[in-house]
Amino acid sequence: MPKYFFRLLALALVLVIGNVGFLAFGVADEYGRDDFPAEFVFGSGTSAYQVEGAALEDGRSFSIWDAYAHSGFCDGANGDIACDGYHKYKEDIKLMVDTGLEAFRFSISWSRLIPNGRGSVNEKGLQFYNDFINRLIAHGIQPHVTLNHIDLPLILEDEYGGWLSRKSVKDFVAFADVCFREFGDRVLHWTTFNEANLYALGGYDTGSSPPGRCSSPFGYINCSRGDSTHEPYLVAHHFLLAHASTVRLYREKYKAMQYGSVGINLLAFWFEPYTNTIQDVKATQRANDFYLGWFLNPLVKGDYPETVKKSAGNRIPTFTKLESQKIKGSFDFLGINHYTTLYIKDNPNDLETDTRDVYADMALIYSGIEFPITEFPVIPIGLEKLLNHLKEEYRNPPIYIHENGQVQARNGTLMDTPRVEYLHAYIGAVLSALRNGSNTKGYFVWSFFDLLEMVGGYNYGYGLYYVDLDDKELTRYPKLSAHWYANFLKGNNINVIIPKVKLKDSFSN
Ligand code: FCB
Repeated sequence: MPKYFFRLLALALVLVIGNVGFLAFGVADEYGRDDFPAEFVFGSGTSAYQVEGAALEDGRSFSIWDAYAHSGFCDGANGDIACDGYHKYKEDIKLMVDTGLEAFRFSISWSRLIPNGRGSVNEKGLQFYNDFINRLIAHGIQPHVTLNHIDLPLILEDEYGGWLSRKSVKDFVAFADVCFREFGDRVLHWTTFNEANLYALGGYDTGSSPPGRCSSPFGYINCSRGDSTHEPYLVAHHFLLAHASTVRLYREKYKAMQYGSVGINLLAFWFEPYTNTIQDVKATQRANDFYLGWFLNPLVKGDYPETVKKSAGNRIPTFTKLESQKIKGSFDFLGINHYTTLYIKDNPNDLETDTRDVYADMALIYSGIEFPITEFPVIPIGLEKLLNHLKEEYRNPPIYIHENGQVQARNGTLMDTPRVEYLHAYIGAVLSALRNGSNTKGYFVWSFFDLLEMVGGYNYGYGLYYVDLDDKELTRYPKLSAHWYANFLKGNNINVIIPKVKLKDSFSN
């Protein structure tokens, strides 16, 4: 599409915002940035492979995500160039400043920093992340760093099977050590794994994310290697051990000097029973045990939930007493990625066979998302209930909502009214949850740009900014949502729907 088309559209948006304001949404309640505590942070985010490009430049080596994308998944797209964030970061940080971001969430590409997976540090990689962090801080934007966003160096996958091997724990901790040592004087918020639960499920059960392992009949792809019945449990176990060791390292070696905090991130749906039968209500609890409890029970209570252990039997590894002690309490905050609410129906048939994957172990059917996902239904009360559930069940941990946002087909429109409505509603839900005592500390819109998406490649986007892929310069254009978010962050009062629905008593039992 020609450049001037977007310029005109961008101008039109400014006019729309200037003249009509937000009356167009015709909503009831009003609140502004000021209604949130001053220390609560609002930001947006990306991840390394999804934006950086420069895939083999300045010494970077491939990660499992490069390999996955180059095998044709991600709708045949790859991150060789992506948004060219590696070269355009100065311009991008300027856009973050224009938008009024208070924090920015991004990940460090392990294979850019340590191309052999362990050992020597790549000076060019170091320089890139140092410049990036320094520039954010110079503009008053807090860096929130994820250490692993599905991009283990491919060399370690090839050498010993990546996360399937316990060797990955040692290499991950050594990588984290380099990050803390080099960047920890400026970075205060560290997340070990992005969506640790989905990493295990997508990567090793259904094959729908890197490294794309699965076994028939469980995969969503053609499974050429893997074991969906055992591997997800094994890698999840290694994630927990790697996470706990990383936190211990930070607490023992860095915390007293750097004062930062380390957490882990999980994909967190809200689940509602499809009917109010006892079976569906119990199945809903099981869904929570599998998605959240699988990681949070060990982190808060020292062991996997009984329901998960019962279904998985001897396929789920056990923690030694020492490991359990080490994992319990090993997080300063929980990061959650929340997009929508799903409806859960009991499906006991799944348990009738002995050869089961994790999904069969859950013994449920869920509905609420249609594939391909074109837009998420807007159910903000789901986020409010989720935050309340975390408060009730897991001792009200500090929470960062690391990802929340609306997907749309990437058809060139900058007029993303559905995204504005979605953000309106979900930020309102966060405020309601805070008023109900949730310990939520921050909120990040996914994503700052339209970028490479695992599901849909470049055909779908969540961005506040559109990136014109037909333009050699990969010019960025603010969508309506970018203007809206900027207005909100700059303290202009906006009309926002605060969900009025009363919380049900039954959901947290
Ligand atoms: C999450 C990922 C993120 C992004 C969104 C849409 O699962 O963490 O990288 O692709 O989904």
